[in-house]
Amino acid sequence: MKKQNSNQAAEKLFLAFGKLFQLYFSISHYGLKRIKFKSMQTWFYLFFFTMSCFTATYNYDFLILFHKLMPFWFTDGVLELLVKVPWLTYFFLFLSSGIVLIFPALGLREYKKIKSYQKDFDFLSIKAGNGVAPKVVQVIELDEYKSRVIVKSEGIGADRYETKINDLTSALGQIVEEIKPCKNPKYTQFNLTKKRLAEKVSYYELPEENEKPYSFSIGESLGGYLSQDISSLPHMLIAGTTGGGKSVFFKQTLISLLKSSDNLQLYLLDLKKGVEMRPFEDLPNVQVIKTEKDAVTVLKNLKTEMDRRFNYLEKNKLKEIDPVRDKMDKIIIGVDEASVLYTKTKTNSAKKKFIEEARELTDELSKLSRAAGIHLILATQKVTKETIDTKVQENIGGRMCFRMNTLQGSMTVLGNKMALNLPDVKGRGIWATGNKFIEVQAPFLSEDELESELSLIAKNFEEKEKTFHGPMVSLEKVEGDKKKVIRKASSNEKAKEMMN
Ligand SMILES: Nc1ncnc2c1ncn2[C@@H]1O[C@H](COP(=O)(O)OP(=O)(O)OP(=O)(O)O)[C@@H](O)[C@H]1O
Ligand SMILES: [Mg+2]
Repeated sequence: MKKQNSNQAAEKLFLAFGKLFQLYFSISHYGLKRIKFKSMQTWFYLFFFTMSCFTATYNYDFLILFHKLMPFWFTDGVLELLVKVPWLTYFFLFLSSGIVLIFPALGLREYKKIKSYQKDFDFLSIKAGNGVAPKVVQVIELDEYKSRVIVKSEGIGADRYETKINDLTSALGQIVEEIKPCKNPKYTQFNLTKKRLAEKVSYYELPEENEKPYSFSIGESLGGYLSQDISSLPHMLIAGTTGGGKSVFFKQTLISLLKSSDNLQLYLLDLKKGVEMRPFEDLPNVQVIKTEKDAVTVLKNLKTEMDRRFNYLEKNKLKEIDPVRDKMDKIIIGVDEASVLYTKTKTNSAKKKFIEEARELTDELSKLSRAAGIHLILATQKVTKETIDTKVQENIGGRMCFRMNTLQGSMTVLGNKMALNLPDVKGRGIWATGNKFIEVQAPFLSEDELESELSLIAKNFEEKEKTFHGPMVSLEKVEGDKKKVIRKASSNEKAKEMMN
């Protein structure tokens, strides 16, 4: 009986030691990962530590120190015995115990962090088919607010986590910005943030000016202010459900471009009777188009202008139009409510013809216009191949997607669910270029502010502080349109005349 009890005690002790060792190794494992063996600094520290052990043990002074600190353990008798141990033994003892302790010391913080995240993930009770739960393997702190958690999730797709995104947010106490598979698809990456974006960002809160010509404001992201040069896109899509902020963003983009750049011509196709774009109409370098028929005419003439520019480039062996060198303006074709212009119809045959022509012309413009300095900005609620031709979609380099109500909507614009997961905040969107997706709060510009910005820009034209080469591309067959004067204008002088 007595023997059995002592056996059990030994077994328990053995297990406890086993666990302790396991703990030691798992903490040390993180410490070991932190050490950069290729860095000179690491080797300097190691050298410094070795020298310290050497100095500490060389004169047996450490034994006297122990004697002073713990006289009841290091008595005179013990000291006499210890002095007989060779110095080298002490040296290696110090060195190895230092090394043994340094790994867990370095790994402890990481270990605690991973354990804490693991606890949060355990709340989700997600498991693979074989019953294995996701395992947090790494936590990378990207900056003060953002971190990336890498989770080993064999047999668990990112979409399984997406369905539990609210549970995950409340377990972690952080906003889950993105969930996606890592390069090795056995692992999933979670991008988290502690900071929230402001729910409204006024246009006037943004940095004063966009320094680069042809650039415009995108908005405020967690990483700071974002702006974009339209030349490098070269076309942009603005999407999102009704009331999300497309038209406001569209208009602030135009204002932003007008302010940052000279040598610009804007053709604004607003088939909601020009309601949204009316305030821009008074500028000499803006043409607002309100009907399908006029839209087709102007697109045709812009296509001719593009061809003319290509001939010029070819003749002069140039790669792309430089507005200053070649004295040709950059052309922005903006379409608010693009679906009204492009959605195929079966009913009215005249309308059907216009729509087909508009689609074809836009396709040709989107394919080739980059070098000619012609850029498209399309805003639409729905993005399907019926509303915007897939060929046009392929040529769009930048997408601003406000909240989408359907998964399909978000998937077609961004190829992911980010627009569906956006909070219900007006002006909150995802700015996507290439495979980069950034949540932003778009700048807000009220109608009054828009009007005052526009009158300032008009004044700049009047005072020749702002210029464009002209002439504007013609809008034939529209009788009595005041822009006809501009069509013939070859300089800003004429533009000014028109304004007066
Ligand atoms: N960036 C923003 N910040 C704050 N509020 C905004 C912002 N953008 C838009 N809003 C608010 O949302 C309203 C609707 O915006 P907007 O007209 O741009 O939506 P929309 O997406 O164009 O809608 P629709 O598809 O119906 O044309 C605006 O009147 C404004 O009050
Ligand atoms: Mg709108």
